[in-house]
Amino acid sequence: MASLDPMEHAKGLIEKVMETATIRSILKFNVLQALPVNGTTSIQDLSKSTNVQASLLERLLRLAAGEGFLLQTNQNEFGHTAISKAYLTPIGDFFSMSYDESMSPMFKFPEYIDARSVREEPSSPTHNPYSWAWGQEGKTSFEVVAAQPERLQAFQRGLGALARGDPITGFYDFDKLDTPEDRAILIDVGGGHGQFIGSIVAAHTKLDPSKMILQDRPETIEIARKREFLPAQVKTVAHDFFTEQPVKAARAYCLRKVTHDWSDEDVVKILKNLAGAMAKDSKLLLVDVLVPTRVDTHEGRTAAWMDIALMPVGGKERTKEMFEDVLDKAGLQLDKIYPAPHSEQAIVEASLKGR
Ligand SMILES: C[S@@+](CC[C@H](N)C(=O)[O-])C[C@H]1O[C@@H](n2cnc3c(N)ncnc32)[C@H](O)[C@@H]1O
Repeated sequence: MASLDPMEHAKGLIEKVMETATIRSILKFNVLQALPVNGTTSIQDLSKSTNVQASLLERLLRLAAGEGFLLQTNQNEFGHTAISKAYLTPIGDFFSMSYDESMSPMFKFPEYIDARSVREEPSSPTHNPYSWAWGQEGKTSFEVVAAQPERLQAFQRGLGALARGDPITGFYDFDKLDTPEDRAILIDVGGGHGQFIGSIVAAHTKLDPSKMILQDRPETIEIARKREFLPAQVKTVAHDFFTEQPVKAARAYCLRKVTHDWSDEDVVKILKNLAGAMAKDSKLLLVDVLVPTRVDTHEGRTAAWMDIALMPVGGKERTKEMFEDVLDKAGLQLDKIYPAPHSEQAIVEASLKGR
């Protein structure tokens, strides 16, 4: 294969950024809702229905059509493609949430390097490229989002869309957590809206959902209680995972897509709170991306960009060795890794050290 001309490479990067920002703007203007499900419509009609200047729309839609995101039949007529229609589903929420909460602050990272004389990876949850870019230093990304109900909804919808694409069951034997004893089977710590527990309950019918608990920040628990994903019998509790875990000796504690939001130091604090509640036979399940130590053009690139996407909030995706390190510092040991099929996700199973 002929190697890419370096100037073409640079132009290709610029093109992707322009296309990405253009699609985000098109979504912001609700253009996709204004396009007919079938057929095309004129820029003038779109301008009326979206209340956006026709010449601005024309420039945005021209690039979007040129990149294959929209259909253009003549200079003035635009319609949907299968891809743009898919952005009317939660895939669009995922893209917009990623743009606003991750791409946008990461885009400003080079500016942040100068502004804060950065020479180390961001690790503070409150003073990082995200809080700096949004003028909210001193707050975590969760606090920033929680202060704006619409943004919180969009954030959670976006995460929900991402989570739906990830395999949850079929590669870990959750049935082995069952117990006749009077103790919880599973505590989903920082469990969001409950997609994880919802999928497990649906696939593992012998597990009693009333012995499962979803914990999260109060504003997220409020949304989870609408039970879009969470089965009726599962208990919900507002709990801060930086404080003592109130449910002792559960068969398993799970952190799904949680450790990747935090620095090693904070992850160790979260894990120590769980270790303090665990019994000898309790399992800790860390469900997250597993980064390979070497990434090439075929393998591991998704894990590598997901890791960078978390840099603005001071988080990171981890390799096996990095998981072993934080577990060890919290008095835990890595027992086994269960990689999810066709995905960069894995379940890292751990237990109390020397049990
Ligand atoms: C990336 S989301 C993952 C949600 C869910 N586990 C999933 O897999 O979809 C991280 C979750 O951590 C929660 N969270 C953040 N800080 C928390 C804290 N101090 N205590 C408890 N939950 C927290 C957020 O509200 C959010 O639901």
